[in-house]
Amino acid sequence: MCGIVGYIGHREAYPIILKGLKRLEYRGYDSAGIALFDGTDIKLSKTKGKVDDLQAKLEKEIPTNGNLGIGHTRWATHGVPNDVNSHPHYSNSGNLVIIHNGIIENYESLKKELSKRGYTFKSDTDTEVLVNLIEDVKKNENTKLGKAVQIALNQVVGAYAIAVFDKNKPNEIVVARLGSPLAIGIGDDEFFIASDASPFIEYTKNAIYLEDEEMAVVRRNKGVKVRKIKDDSLVDPYVQELQLNLEQIEKGGYDHFMLKEIYEQPSAILDTFRGRMLPNEGIIKMAGIEDNMKTFLNANRIIVVACGTSWHAGLVSEYIFEDLARIPVEVEYASEFRYRNPVITDKDVVIAISQSGETADTLAAIKLAKSRGAFVFGVCNVVGSSIARETHAGAYTHAGPEIGVASTKAFTTQITVLTLIALRLARAKGTISSSEFRHHMIELELIPEKVKRALDSDAYVKTVADIYKNAKNFLYLGRGYNFPVALEGALKLKEISYIHAEGYPAAEMKHGPIALIDENMPIVVIATKKGHYEKVVSNIQEIKSRKGKIIGIVTEGDEQVRELADHVIEVPETIESLTPLLTTIPLQLLSYHIALMLGKNVDQPRNLAKAVTVE
Ligand code: M6R
Repeated sequence: MCGIVGYIGHREAYPIILKGLKRLEYRGYDSAGIALFDGTDIKLSKTKGKVDDLQAKLEKEIPTNGNLGIGHTRWATHGVPNDVNSHPHYSNSGNLVIIHNGIIENYESLKKELSKRGYTFKSDTDTEVLVNLIEDVKKNENTKLGKAVQIALNQVVGAYAIAVFDKNKPNEIVVARLGSPLAIGIGDDEFFIASDASPFIEYTKNAIYLEDEEMAVVRRNKGVKVRKIKDDSLVDPYVQELQLNLEQIEKGGYDHFMLKEIYEQPSAILDTFRGRMLPNEGIIKMAGIEDNMKTFLNANRIIVVACGTSWHAGLVSEYIFEDLARIPVEVEYASEFRYRNPVITDKDVVIAISQSGETADTLAAIKLAKSRGAFVFGVCNVVGSSIARETHAGAYTHAGPEIGVASTKAFTTQITVLTLIALRLARAKGTISSSEFRHHMIELELIPEKVKRALDSDAYVKTVADIYKNAKNFLYLGRGYNFPVALEGALKLKEISYIHAEGYPAAEMKHGPIALIDENMPIVVIATKKGHYEKVVSNIQEIKSRKGKIIGIVTEGDEQVRELADHVIEVPETIESLTPLLTTIPLQLLSYHIALMLGKNVDQPRNLAKAVTVE
């Protein structure tokens, strides 16, 4: 995925676009570029590397004046990250310039056709094909840019959010969306274009989120005209009032977004259950569940579809739903589910979990499930995201913007929402008593304070990180509710420190991974008092007798594991189903500190992007 920004109005476009690209860098950061209209011509600069590299290059290369411009930060799909493949891309005439987030799947056949008509291409990108297709249509049909974009997009297969302008018509930007997000900020005689609202939040609180298959012509001093790409019908766009504020998208004194987001978990979890759960009155209320209670209660099973960390949250929910609500659950990688011809019926409830709400595989899995008659419920963080809109109903996690590529607060807030749902269904089905129901709520209410206490281990976790930072491999073990936490701990370490790590159910160790254990292997074992404690202690004994280095994640006051382990990191006690909300904290901190000590870019690890909007 990539980040796109545009501006048309009365201010200087460059500082707005540059700042916007920095805010969108979480979406992709292998190259970046900006095109500005200086009143006479387009001035364009682009480079491989980050937005800071672009800034250094651009300010030497081109004048930065002009109040129309577009910018792009890229996560490469077609063509390696280099200067030439970076966006924006010119059309052959040099009149049009475009930025694009997404993939044009039929670009090769389009390119062949255009080549036959004399077009040449400098880059390997699908985007350069698209801008020339638009130019070709515009010329052949002798039409305005908006119409040409529309005709061209009707020939395109794939996904896109685009912004394009014509230097001969510098009073408009044409934008369109299919499968990739695109927001238009509405100011006073000025308009902002962006992949999300963060680039323009200090200028306006009013935004239009284009729907799939919609395009808009954004005209200086005139406004925004939205229409359907397919049938040309005009759309009356809904202008949404943004809840986002500037503080939420800045680092607020922390060195990294990841650290800030780890520390935001007490409030993020609280915000997620606040207003939905009233322990004293014995009530959990969530509109998406209440409105569809019958569907949930009549469901044969729940199928969870998700990717990465969200998939791990889905695995935790399998334990919660089965344990509390006695509903069978299957947890599927969205990417496998969508290509497996799965058996789905109208008796299935599908829960799609996604922080970004834009993950292409999860979105495709939702569409497949819907086409087979299933009811699909979304658990998303980003309000108004594609997945939030594509699902029949849903519940938001109230984590606030998550910018660090390594997901942290999204994971714990997803577990929080899923716990609320499971508890609500369990009560409705009568699979837990009212006192158990109340007890769970009281324990959940205590979690934000307990997460704060778990965060107190930070300094000690840092010393542990220092000892093991040069290890080549790590194992993470957990049982029951904490098996998915072991997977999540390993994923966190891999993605930001590039150390190979594997998560396993502790009991599976003896079926293979035990062969890896020697005195050089650090093994993180989640061994909280609630949840197969004695069994896990036996697993720790097995590791110890093979000289593995044991880092135990234990309940406060634990003595038994302390005796055996090389290090113990304590978390407060809670009921078993809520332990993942605490045990995951030291694992996030461990990966953060190791990555930092190894000099890695914690917030923007190599090869990754915050939302994977391509297959
Ligand atoms: O936005 P989503 O939750 O759908 O994203 C799913 C995964 O791409 C995401 O969790 C990824 O694994 C993170 N980088 C993990 O930290």
